[in-house]
Amino acid sequence: MTANDVDDVFAVLNLNLGEYFAPEVIRFFLAQWPDGQFVAESLTGQVVGALCGSKLAGNRASVSLLAVDSSVRGMGAGTSLMASLRRACMMNGIGTIQLEVRTTNENAIRFYKRLGFSVSEFLPSFYNDGGDGYRMVSATFSSGVSPS
Ligand SMILES: CC(C)(COP(=O)(O)OP(=O)(O)OC[C@H]1O[C@@H](n2cnc3c(N)ncnc32)[C@H](O)[C@@H]1OP(=O)(O)O)[C@@H](O)C(=O)NCCC(=O)NCCS
Repeated sequence: MTANDVDDVFAVLNLNLGEYFAPEVIRFFLAQWPDGQFVAESLTGQVVGALCGSKLAGNRASVSLLAVDSSVRGMGAGTSLMASLRRACMMNGIGTIQLEVRTTNENAIRFYKRLGFSVSEFLPSFYNDGGDGYRMVSATFSSGVSPS
């Protein structure tokens, strides 16, 4: 992801996540860890997915925002974005990746489990609307997903 992608990332995230994120949020992620932000592009160069990662204390990183446009889901873009983050973590010596997901988001939970994540914590009323969440974690080096 580069600064030129911010408007497109803004559009993809806000069309495909149930919450609003201002462009400033994306610029913040880009500034704090440029190598931990990724876009997925169609063959014609259109941004169809994005992942914003964060470095956390304790040798961890998080998947802060992830969405793939509904028109291209199930074609591997999400898996590829996650593999890119995993590679960035490896290059930064980060041993654990974590994320939070709504307990009702069964599609995403199945997706993350397939990528080697497991639920580590139940987070009651984690979301602004009172929705519950799960924290899921994976060791950077232990997934079956190739970082290539
Ligand atoms: C979760 C998400 C990022 C996955 O992205 P993706 O590009 O569809 O991921 P992939 O194609 O690599 O894998 C998708 C999985 O769904 C399957 N699938 C097949 N057809 C599909 C379709 N039409 N739509 C969604 N998934 C489909 C894939 O085979 C794969 O299998 P899995 O369930 O065993 O993991 C995407 O569904 C998404 O953006 N969802 C809405 C936003 C969201 O929930 N974000 C996560 C918040 S924590």
